[in-house]
Amino acid sequence: MTERWSPESWRSKPVQQVPEYPDPKALAEVEAQLATFPPLVFAGEARNLKKSLARVAAGEAFLLQGGDCAESFAEHGANNIRDFFRVLLQMAVVMTYAGAVPVVKVGRIAGQFAKPRSSPTEKINGVELPSYRGDIVNDTAFTPEARIPNPQRQLDAYRQSAATLNLLRAFATGGFANLGSVHQWMLGFVKDSPQSRRYKELADRISEALNFMRACGLDLESHPELRATDFYTSHEALLLGYEQAFTRVDSTTGDWYATSGHFIWIGDRTRQLDHGHVEYFRGIKNPIGLKCGPSLKPDELLKLIDILNPDNEPGRLTLISRFGADKVGDHLPHLIRAVQREGRKVVWSCDPMHGNTITSTSGYKTRPFDRIISEVRAFFAVHAAEGTHAGGIHLEMTGKDVTECIGGARAITDEDLNDRYHTVCDPRLNAEQSIDMAFLIAELLKQQRGGKSAPMPAVAGF
Ligand code: TRP
Ligand code: MN
Repeated sequence: MTERWSPESWRSKPVQQVPEYPDPKALAEVEAQLATFPPLVFAGEARNLKKSLARVAAGEAFLLQGGDCAESFAEHGANNIRDFFRVLLQMAVVMTYAGAVPVVKVGRIAGQFAKPRSSPTEKINGVELPSYRGDIVNDTAFTPEARIPNPQRQLDAYRQSAATLNLLRAFATGGFANLGSVHQWMLGFVKDSPQSRRYKELADRISEALNFMRACGLDLESHPELRATDFYTSHEALLLGYEQAFTRVDSTTGDWYATSGHFIWIGDRTRQLDHGHVEYFRGIKNPIGLKCGPSLKPDELLKLIDILNPDNEPGRLTLISRFGADKVGDHLPHLIRAVQREGRKVVWSCDPMHGNTITSTSGYKTRPFDRIISEVRAFFAVHAAEGTHAGGIHLEMTGKDVTECIGGARAITDEDLNDRYHTVCDPRLNAEQSIDMAFLIAELLKQQRGGKSAPMPAVAGF
């Protein structure tokens, strides 16, 4: 690729998943306006995340990435953001303590609005309408008006992202994430579960360790690393017009950065070598992700790596595999071997959600928790066999007590799905299932490290 890159060079390529805006002039006006707005993130932050991800690539840290499948305008409340952040902190602390490894925390949040669809239209009872493409494009309601792509929604998505990010920054650095508050992150509705007992025991140990250090004369308040955490944002950069408007030159280096979030990824449906999304991504300096599904061949992956990370910079590229529990063993080893053979430095992360979606007998789109777990186990097992590092996990999850994925400690059944099925898109792990997952990963991380970590608190009946 020697062609010149610019923030709009993707426009001269074929682009998948483009909404059909009826009024191109109105769209252009919105994009021009967005281009004048302040960036959401600063390039230096994206560089710091890239450095942390380089440690993940080297096997010295683990990536925890999670959040809604799609954020929605209707559910933009402080409680939602707080509950999500709490669960993410709980998961991170479980993995850091029990897995004894630093955890890089990245939310699928503050920009995760645009959704790729398998079909441009949707048919219900014989009525065919354009598909819902995420709140940044159109509305979920099944009416002709609601489904018309409306550019004004991009302004709303930007404002929601800015407000969400503002609160998350405050939580991450303003005291909420203080390790001294490790007990307060427990959520009311999880209090009586085996997960919460197990979590409480772990939190007790952390408090004890902090008290011990204090008694030894250490002034804990003077250590910012105990009081705050680095939290980053990410989303699928699907809507390239929006992304282009937030592509800015970093004045300190002269490089182009996507400033709509710290980390953005290319979906499995839009990773064609000569298409617009790959073209856009090659020119920005952020850490980026590439979703890898069963149709991705090893030689195609190597070509994508050549384009997306020509300098083989560690931390630049995270490969997020999403095969399905029964397919990991068939596909992942071939990709790993190709990457190893060519000496490419990548982060290997596991998305155990998207390859395990089924339609339940009652008609809900769901994901069996045991299949999600078994994809994660298989992912770690393949890396152990290949001598590489399982570097991260990518989850669709929420801090709410929803019933969207079947199974888990509370054994949510097909009949339960109807109770609290709230997602506007794909089914998410609820708070309990998320914490369960964190304990499992801590266990697997310990094995990966050769069992050199603190013993796991054992809880009777778990
Ligand atoms: N700063 C460290 C980290 O982010 C320790 C830490 C502070 C932490 N608050 C946390 C770890 C909350 C997990 C969760 O890793
Ligand atoms: Mn999804």
